[in-house]
Amino acid sequence: MKHAATLTVNGMAYPVELEGDTTLVRAIRDDIGLTGTKEGCDDCECGACMVMIDGRPVNSCTYLALQAIGSEITTVEGLADGETLSNLQSAFLDQGGVQCGFCTPGMLVSAHALLRENADPTEEEVRLALGGNLCRCTGYTKIASAVMKAAKASV
Ligand code: FES
Ligand code: FES
Repeated sequence: MKHAATLTVNGMAYPVELEGDTTLVRAIRDDIGLTGTKEGCDDCECGACMVMIDGRPVNSCTYLALQAIGSEITTVEGLADGETLSNLQSAFLDQGGVQCGFCTPGMLVSAHALLRENADPTEEEVRLALGGNLCRCTGYTKIASAVMKAAKASV
């Protein structure tokens, strides 16, 4: 049975029809049409599906969409200011933190959540914050450098 609901994503209200078992990643991608959020393992292992719910990073593949009603959901599309990339997004490009790009939306969301809480993290804190995000391409060093660069640019 479907439930009519409204999800608030990146400051916009989206009317959706949700099954009780619809995961948040499926609602974001299939019902709302924001495909920046990726679905990899579908089992809370890879972090590709990371979004923020009320400022907290969450794996949207194992979060029911119905649970997100009334919360502020932020996806990777919400990090840029229109066509203008955030400092963090630019730093990923500048530092070579993007290769195939599949992990990048989740990495950006986790890093963004970290920098909201801690504007000047150590590299160890960055690596800890990104511990739930897997990358098969970069070896993580350039991603950590990108987050450190973005942090330095903002403090
Ligand atoms: S798709 Fe959600 S953690 Fe991998
Ligand atoms: S850039 Fe390819 S998985 Fe991270």
